[in-house]
Amino acid sequence: MTGETLRQPEIRVLLSEQQIRDRVAQLAEQISRDYAGKQPLIVGVLKGAWVFMADLVRRLTVPTRCDFIKLSSYGEETATTGRVQLHLDLNTPAEGLDILVVEDIVDTGTCVRWLLDHLRRKGPASIRLCALLDNPARRIAPITIDYVGFTIPDCFVVGYGIDWKERFRELPHIGRLT
Ligand code: IMP
Ligand code: MG
Repeated sequence: MTGETLRQPEIRVLLSEQQIRDRVAQLAEQISRDYAGKQPLIVGVLKGAWVFMADLVRRLTVPTRCDFIKLSSYGEETATTGRVQLHLDLNTPAEGLDILVVEDIVDTGTCVRWLLDHLRRKGPASIRLCALLDNPARRIAPITIDYVGFTIPDCFVVGYGIDWKERFRELPHIGRLT
């Protein structure tokens, strides 16, 4: 290992495991109620949303299908590049389906805005957005988030699937780096 990977930046707990667990249960209850009688296609945005999505779908009481899409807008830094790249598209034909997009965090809104336009072109019956975290202070593109886990102060967060340079995804809580 190099010196760089061994150095531990200070990470302060922003949201504890228990807080996340309780909020995910509430979101799942609300989503299950709203999608009663339907079978939504849950679309997880890789890689950051995978831990959240795994916990969320296990608490839903409606049948689902699950698929993934992979985007990037961030380079190595803690600020968005503003450019969105599609690395992996849906496998499921989305026409006529009720799509629920599951995101880790909506920051500038660039990624989600691009993603919602992309998915709309596939002709789904409906699209809603669920984001674990909302950082509204950095928003550039106006976005309606149908289900928000937590609104956070303007900081850079890691853990619970969310990374900084591919690190800290395995933390069970959400911490702030800045
Ligand atoms: P946006 O396009 O600026 O809204 O950011 C979209 C993506 O950037 C999110 O889905 C995350 O993957 C990543 N991102 C935004 N803010 C943070 C953060 O605080 N920590 C880690 N990744 C972030
Ligand atoms: Mg993401």
